[in-house]
Amino acid sequence: KKKNPFVMVLFGGAGDLAKRKLFPALYGLYRNGFIHEHFSVIGLGRSRKGQEEYRQIVRQSVNEHFRMSVNDPEELNSFSMKFDYISLDVHDLDGYQRLREWLEIREKEVNIPVNRLFYLAISPKLFGQVSKNLKIAGLTEGNGWNRLVIEKPFGHDYESAKELNNQIRTSFAEEEIYRIDHYLGKEMVQNIQMIRFANTLFENMWNNRYISNIQITASETVGVGDRAQYYDHAGALRDMVQNHILQMVTLVAMEPPSRLKPEAIHDEKVKVLRSLRRWKNEDVLQNMIRGQYTKGFIGGQPLPSYREEEGVQNDSVNETFVSGRLLIDNFRWSGVPFYIRTGKRMYRKETVVVVQFKNVPDNLYFNKNNALEPNLLIININPKEGLSLQINAKQPGTVSEVVPIRMDFCHDSKEGLPEAYESLLHDATEGDRTYFTHWEEVALAWKFIDPIRKVWDGLDESTLSYYEAGSTGPKESDLLLKKEGFHWHDLG
Ligand code: BG6
Repeated sequence: KKKNPFVMVLFGGAGDLAKRKLFPALYGLYRNGFIHEHFSVIGLGRSRKGQEEYRQIVRQSVNEHFRMSVNDPEELNSFSMKFDYISLDVHDLDGYQRLREWLEIREKEVNIPVNRLFYLAISPKLFGQVSKNLKIAGLTEGNGWNRLVIEKPFGHDYESAKELNNQIRTSFAEEEIYRIDHYLGKEMVQNIQMIRFANTLFENMWNNRYISNIQITASETVGVGDRAQYYDHAGALRDMVQNHILQMVTLVAMEPPSRLKPEAIHDEKVKVLRSLRRWKNEDVLQNMIRGQYTKGFIGGQPLPSYREEEGVQNDSVNETFVSGRLLIDNFRWSGVPFYIRTGKRMYRKETVVVVQFKNVPDNLYFNKNNALEPNLLIININPKEGLSLQINAKQPGTVSEVVPIRMDFCHDSKEGLPEAYESLLHDATEGDRTYFTHWEEVALAWKFIDPIRKVWDGLDESTLSYYEAGSTGPKESDLLLKKEGFHWHDLG
């Protein structure tokens, strides 16, 4: 693989994301030779830290969070020597000057051209200000490339996202902006395109003539954790649907791109988001369900209700669960419901896409006790990573009894597949924007979400559904499918 030397300027350099995801991801790339040996990371944070102290944090984080055990301390040590730390107040322009001086020295010392990856692992409130200051301080000039990597959430509605985008666009061009949606870095999410476009078997049937419905589930067992302050305002609709779920919808629904190039792929994803029917007013009540967990059990462990969680208002009507029926008004998908579902404190952690095909005529194999099961293509994204196909076959020893059988393919993850951040960081250093979200995608996703949010915000508690912690969600979510003769495939 092509490799570019670069310096990564990491805002939030000793924060949670850096420790849990970014250091381990960089380490994975380093040990596999996927990044140029001349790379350097400068961590920035408010607190003061010595260089050795910082490198120790890096080593410890890798030891704790890398996907497999690290058994080469020397290699880890030389990896950590690539890291330096500067304390910086993001509002103080002088600090940026010091950063600039440091960068220039470092770039000369290790003979790195001016290729800079600015990674903002900090509060979204600061994204605009930091990008502006980077430009004022002259940090975005040079003869190499500059790239800005930003974490979610990108705004809390269309207007705030637009404002944020305008702010960062004064310092960086769209081609320089890498908006992270970590679901796009997941191996099996990236595999959706391959499964579709590299297989006659599926691509020919990938439409409303053969598919009856599509189900996308992202369930979690964790609760709100220590993020109540953010989550109690955001809710599951903004936290999971606006980004991860809609991204998976676009990958499942998009037309084949003309080339495997980011622009061509973004164009097709944008077309899906444009065709997504926007629910308003009464339609929201018919098609979108919001739920909140009450107390319950997971794995025998008793758990509190959402309202009893620390930091949550005790009369909060915030949703911790969303399910919905989405329609894509284009030729390929007309009439095929896309059911989506996501929630905290559900029965298990699972991200899965299920494609349900229409049944064959049932005159041959139909009898009352033996109705045909549909063909299913199951794309397991997390924690299982693989594919499974459900087909019907003869029950051995019977004359005409049909049984569904599953053909399973599971990635062998003994070695540990690269984590989403590993793949995304690699792409960012190589300038491949395929698996990052384009502004147009963000904007259209918000335009779908905003009217739903508006209706929900105007409703009182009586329209909120409840589900027990450890369950598959509120019964209203099951009814949504039942109305159309379907049910959620809880696959086990
Ligand atoms: C994040 C959300 O984007 O995704 C979290 O903010 C959620 O609330 C997480 O828990 C889920 O990611 P994953 O990779 O564990 O499915």
